[in-house]
Amino acid sequence: MKVLLCGGAGYVGSHAAKVLMHEGHEVWVYDNLSEGHRAAVPEGRLIEGDLHDRLALERALREKQIEAVMHFAASCYVGVSVTNPAEYYHNNVVGTLSLLEAMRYVGVKRIVFSSTCATYGVPDVVPITEAEKQSPINPYGFTKLVIEHALADYSHAYGWGYAALRYFNASGAAADGTIGEDHDPETHLIPLVLEVALGKRKNVKIFGDDYPTPDGTCVRDYIHVDDLAAAHLAALEQLEDGTQLKLNLGTGSGASVLEVIEACRHVTGHAIPAVVAPRREGDPPALVADAREANRVLNWQPQHKEIGSIVESAWGWHQKHPEGYGD
Ligand code: UFG
Repeated sequence: MKVLLCGGAGYVGSHAAKVLMHEGHEVWVYDNLSEGHRAAVPEGRLIEGDLHDRLALERALREKQIEAVMHFAASCYVGVSVTNPAEYYHNNVVGTLSLLEAMRYVGVKRIVFSSTCATYGVPDVVPITEAEKQSPINPYGFTKLVIEHALADYSHAYGWGYAALRYFNASGAAADGTIGEDHDPETHLIPLVLEVALGKRKNVKIFGDDYPTPDGTCVRDYIHVDDLAAAHLAALEQLEDGTQLKLNLGTGSGASVLEVIEACRHVTGHAIPAVVAPRREGDPPALVADAREANRVLNWQPQHKEIGSIVESAWGWHQKHPEGYGD
């Protein structure tokens, strides 16, 4: 299939591009490189362009005879979305509507959308099923939820087939160490902990150790980025007119901040000093997926079920690329 990956130069998008190409799909990456990296895109596959440039999007869709879109391009810092919601509504809502309109105009009716567990806010029940209420507690989560609603409406009215994939904590890196996680600024736990092992920072801060969890630190469901990529491939292959998939992508088990740090110590052999710091605003105590629906519908199982194997692959990338992509 000919597939356009918007945001395909970013972390999850670049891993999806690699998996899709490996399976023989024709991949085009549409990215403005504001967050993504040229070096993360396979040679000759990059179309530099902005989500807000509807004509450029239409041109790309038409010229490359695109049959389906995967949409990864978004601003994704929960904290910044609270202080600068304008950016989040502009990029994640207005930008995505521009993409949807370009697709509608050209007649492309298949889309896999990167949604998030942040659409659930603070869940009533953990592990979280897709039936949990969607009540985000930050603008980032709201912007993703708005698009989930838009896709449901487009599907109903125009017969589109879509999958909204609600990622839990994307982590890890490609097994061959060629692509991995490189955010600026980096705010995610695993790369920050590994930066201590690389000697790039003195210690890691534990944001709160008095949560109502077994060891007092926050619990998250870390899902390997290659497993996310595989789920995108499986979802793409399921899309037909009117398909509506809303699926959690996680492993179904959680790791606490302390457990992640311990796994990093084990993998790197570094002592990795950690200091307890105040809670970070907006962090729910525990977010773990009930991923059985995705397992069933996509016939998909994460290959990396242990935090240790996720950390190992991330460490492979960070060791080979201590400065990330260096751009
Ligand atoms: N944490 C620390 N110290 C750090 C960084 C993080 O203790 O230096 C903790 C956080 O408080 C949190 C956990 O590690 O409990 C994971 O934090 P990340 O920032 O790595 O990830 P989040 O769970 O905050 O964010 C992820 C995705 C978002 C998504 C969100 C849903 O990155 O895109 O889950 O809540 F929206």
